Amino acid sequence: MINNYDKIANQYDFLSRLVFFKSQVNAQINQLKYIAENSSILIVGGGTGWILEEIAKIHASGLQIIYVEISEKMISLSQTRDFKNNKVEFINLGIEDFKTDQLFDVMLTPFLFDNFIEHRAEMVFELLHSRLKKTGLWFFVDFSLNAKNGRWWKSLILKSMYVFFKLIGIVETNKLTDMHPLFNKKSYLVVEQQFYYASFISATVYQK
Ligand SMILES: C[S@@+](CC[C@H](N)C(=O)[O-])C[C@H]1O[C@@H](n2cnc3c(N)ncnc32)[C@H](O)[C@@H]1O
Repeated sequence: MINNYDKIANQYDFLSRLVFFKSQVNAQINQLKYIAENSSILIVGGGTGWILEEIAKIHASGLQIIYVEISEKMISLSQTRDFKNNKVEFINLGIEDFKTDQLFDVMLTPFLFDNFIEHRAEMVFELLHSRLKKTGLWFFVDFSLNAKNGRWWKSLILKSMYVFFKLIGIVETNKLTDMHPLFNKKSYLVVEQQFYYASFISATVYQK
């Protein structure tokens, strides 16, 4: 299955910290304060599930979380997390195949879209947009090449990552799709935007 991290599920968190220290983690944790109690939350591509424990530090109960992950191994790791008394439903599917009528208060897609070719990125964006409640929040965290400074080294790191992922055969794209124009086109509001790792990582809280 395309973009499935099964092969490196056990090493993923270590590799992420090795290259980006805690930037990928902090970028996500900082947004969690925007989660209101009793929210319904859709997490797509949550990886090993450490985010569930961080969410439980904000609200230990009352949340209804749907956790969609294409990697079976990532799902297994996530199921062992201590998410307190929140209700978490694990769904081992690509988000493209996840069918639901439910609308969500909050969506998290951390480092998901950088895996996708442009066409899939647009398709998944439309799909998720249609599942987010009116005035719902979308926590969007991903790499960014938009800052003026350091484009060369950021492009170099990104290229190296894509080469690595191509070698082990798990990521379909070799190019980052800039997702922010899609949010702008749908008139999302920027509630907060923070940058990490010399602005190579951007974390935006969008409101529909
Ligand atoms: C780069 S990792 C990020 C993991 C986690 N968000 C983090 O920051 O630690 C991307 C994750 O998205 C999952 N993924 C990729 N494509 C997916 C899809 N179409 N639907 C659901 N999950 C997907 C992969 O299996 C992987 O666990």
